[in-house]
Amino acid sequence: MHSFLILSLTIIIFFFLRLTYSILWIPRKTQLHFRRQGITGPRYRPFVGNAGEIRELAAAAVSRPMSGISHDILQRVDPRYGLWSVVHGRTFLFWFGTRARLAIAEPEMVKEVLLNTSSPAGTFERMEETPLVKYLLGDGLFRLRGARWAHHRRIISPAFNMERVKEWVPVMLGSTVRMLNKWEKENEGKAAFEIEVHKELHNFTADVISRVAFGSSFDEGRRIFQLQEEQMLNVSQALRQVYIPGFRFLPTKRNRRMWSIDKEIQKVLQNIIKPTSHKDHQCRNGKNCKYLLNLMKSARMHEREEERINNREIIEECKSFYFAGKETGANFLTWALILLAEHQEWQHRARQEVIQICGHQCSAAPRAEDLAKLNLVSKILHARLG
Ligand code: HEM
Repeated sequence: MHSFLILSLTIIIFFFLRLTYSILWIPRKTQLHFRRQGITGPRYRPFVGNAGEIRELAAAAVSRPMSGISHDILQRVDPRYGLWSVVHGRTFLFWFGTRARLAIAEPEMVKEVLLNTSSPAGTFERMEETPLVKYLLGDGLFRLRGARWAHHRRIISPAFNMERVKEWVPVMLGSTVRMLNKWEKENEGKAAFEIEVHKELHNFTADVISRVAFGSSFDEGRRIFQLQEEQMLNVSQALRQVYIPGFRFLPTKRNRRMWSIDKEIQKVLQNIIKPTSHKDHQCRNGKNCKYLLNLMKSARMHEREEERINNREIIEECKSFYFAGKETGANFLTWALILLAEHQEWQHRARQEVIQICGHQCSAAPRAEDLAKLNLVSKILHARLG
């Protein structure tokens, strides 16, 4: 009995000291380290760090209507940077739980971090995301690090070399023409009509990524896109809470929904990647290597074992590409169209340039070489005016 008590007490003291070390000692040491360099930040609170403030600031920002359209969107999408950089300077330290985050904004510093990263030899390793991100982006390129990242990158990169990207132009053109025809058909005979452009562009980029990366169409990926949209809401809500290790395994309402969405996405993807006589063209000797999906499927049976990837890894990469391929492009195009609608003089100039290169009513289908000649359009898309 006596020795049992001593053992229990030792264990309790050990865990107490360990907890004190990670939630008080390490944050204090980190703060002092940066303070000596003149870097400060919002006050650290044990366990939660600044998560509560981040959540409140974000909720307050989205509850206010946007005052007009402006590129200055930081206050809305991530108000903590705007607020804390005014108080503490452009470089500041803040806390997500017990994890320190250093916000940097000096271009030279940002460049150093972005360029000196990710490769196995890079100094700055990608931040370790919470495992929740897996439900949305998959356990693919976005999350992998070191040798596994380099391995997947080797398999996937050939799908995105410039020559291949140029081959996508007719496919993208086809999707664009189908979208425009649909708009015309749905609104035939109407003097004026409204289109929910954001939604339409989401369908458009979903169709493009399905075709160029997976050799299928929006209809085949439709269920994945729907499920990912719902998953995006669940994951972004969960990310606003402090991450408690193991919490994602508790059967809360949201966790159960996230599990079931993930399960269904995996099931649909299983079907898309499973071998079928007419679709499963293996990429061999440079043939049938057009689609990202084929490149990954071929890597399943690479002659060298260390170059192979398995079905689970392919599914995780597919999740990343379905999500990244649709969301980024659709939001980017929507924003560009909003700005063109706001600045009609630029809209007019951009239209003139397109007519000059592609002919009136785009009589000649634009080719990859033509796109390179669209100087003004390209400046608009890259926000490099003025
Ligand atoms: C306007 C459009 C886009 C923007 C602004 C954008 C932005 C980014 C950024 C900032 C990263 C780095 C993330 C990190 O390392 O943590 C990234 C990585 C990535 N993006 Fe995009 N992206 C865009 C379009 C796309 C599209 C269309 C695809 C898919 C076809 C895509 C697929 C990926 C992938 C797979 C990675 C991870 C690469 C790696 O780690 O090797 N992105 N993107």
